[in-house]
Amino acid sequence: MIEVTKNIQLKEVSNTDTKVLFQLMQEIYPPAYSHFWKDDGSWYVNSQYSKENTLKELSQANADFYFILFKSEIVGNFRIVWDEKLPNLLEEKQVKLHRVYLHPKTQGKGLGKTLLSWLEEEAQQKGYKIIWLDAMDAQPQAFQFYKKAGYTYHSHTFLPFELMHDKVRKMSQVYKIL
Ligand SMILES: CC(C)(COP(=O)(O)OP(=O)(O)OC[C@H]1O[C@@H](n2cnc3c(N)ncnc32)[C@H](O)[C@@H]1OP(=O)(O)O)[C@@H](O)C(=O)NCCC(=O)NCCS
Repeated sequence: MIEVTKNIQLKEVSNTDTKVLFQLMQEIYPPAYSHFWKDDGSWYVNSQYSKENTLKELSQANADFYFILFKSEIVGNFRIVWDEKLPNLLEEKQVKLHRVYLHPKTQGKGLGKTLLSWLEEEAQQKGYKIIWLDAMDAQPQAFQFYKKAGYTYHSHTFLPFELMHDKVRKMSQVYKIL
């Protein structure tokens, strides 16, 4: 368990937590992203947070996968992939923030900002020079959040998922030099 602040902890997701993670994301994902999908995002949550995919993600040696705890309650998830590089970005040591998802009841209270600062410090201490991540352009909450935290546009791609609405496919890669 990592003590980020008095009220915020990061607890490692383990192989026996796949159900808890799935149930959590069934609560978190739809309010933020169901309008991106023709099926309200069911296919995406079912595939991303299937037992099989979670176990695969947990087996990745250079990744850290955490539950976010706020006042001792699980309210989100946070996944970091060390040394994953963004093509055509500077050749320095890079870390990817793969996911940060908070439950609606804890959004807008500074938890996200605190976790980004924690990651910046952690990365700096380990000698990393860049944090980068993918952000959906059509999700202003996340996009503004990263912009405010000092992340800069690098490139973009369009997600190919068949069930995704065409107008929300754009995903930008943004980064911050530490
Ligand atoms: C995006 C997310 C991680 C942000 O975390 P958060 O704890 O809600 O954000 P914070 O309260 O730390 O806000 C940090 C800054 O972002 C800005 N921000 C947060 N939500 C915003 C919104 N809806 N619209 C515009 N700006 C927003 C805030 O203004 C704040 O700036 P300030 O400190 O100068 O006031 C969180 O809201 C979330 O999980 N959302 C749903 C899932 C998602 O989209 N996750 C990212 C996908 S990888």
